[in-house]
Amino acid sequence: MSPVREPITKGTVSPLRDVPTSIARPEYVGRTHAATWEGGDIHDAETVEKIRISAQIAAQALAEVGRHVAPGVTTDELDRIGHEFVLDNGAYPSTLGYPGAAGRPPFPKALCTSVNEVICHGIPDSTVIEDGDIVKVDITAFKNGVHGDNCGSFIAGEGSDEARKLVEVTHEAMMRGIKAARPGREVNVIGRVIEKYAARFGYESVRNYTGHGVGPAFHTGLIIPHYDAAPLHDDVIEPGMVFTVEPMLCIGSEESNEWDDGWTVVTDDRSWVAQFEHTILITDEGAEVLTLP
Ligand code: MF3
Ligand code: CO
Ligand code: CO
Repeated sequence: MSPVREPITKGTVSPLRDVPTSIARPEYVGRTHAATWEGGDIHDAETVEKIRISAQIAAQALAEVGRHVAPGVTTDELDRIGHEFVLDNGAYPSTLGYPGAAGRPPFPKALCTSVNEVICHGIPDSTVIEDGDIVKVDITAFKNGVHGDNCGSFIAGEGSDEARKLVEVTHEAMMRGIKAARPGREVNVIGRVIEKYAARFGYESVRNYTGHGVGPAFHTGLIIPHYDAAPLHDDVIEPGMVFTVEPMLCIGSEESNEWDDGWTVVTDDRSWVAQFEHTILITDEGAEVLTLP
């Protein structure tokens, strides 16, 4: 048995890491708001080919960072690895400098590291990963004017049966949601499938944070809930659409609150959370996962 883990607390955030001027930044870097995307969610073939490249880089970056999740490693070290990997592939790490809510600082790192009861948007810092922790890594790459976004849950060491089950079920929930994404259906079918599957295991699916259209904008405005939102979110799925499916499942209650850092989101009851995310392309046949390494 691993020892009972104390709740995660704020660590020390390292200085900003450099990005060479040769790497193009998204429009929002250095601004207070991301521009509103007016171009819709159905993309032409040329744009889709570019998204494939960004999604591929993001997927390989996630795999590389995931290989380094281990007891004794800091979340800041994971950021360093992800930051360098993305730059080495000629891309910009989309979360770095992403504007926060009004009056809040921008996100300061190249990826999000959300440990145990942290649902999402954890800031890499001096926190040392312990044996049995669930570490969610969420990394996004921007290249050729488009983004590809993905997240995975990694257990440090073997993990408890409970943690391993949560991670496995969350991955399966995401895949079932993706398989439900077919042209002609409303996007709310995705969350319905995810929430129902989670409930079989007594898990709750987070409502306040959702999937989103992605491509020429990090967040296009299209929302993909991971719960049954019908009759809301009735956007019809069409070929050429690109969006994320990124469920966060909790062992306990999905109710959450945000730290005063303006980013870190934790469960109110401190129950542990797993998350997976893929960027998908809708084709005539269904969904194609773009974030496979
Ligand atoms: N990658 C996250 C998502 O899936 C967004 C993180 S925004 C950040 O949408 F600013 F917190 F990094
Ligand atoms: Co996303
Ligand atoms: Co993401």
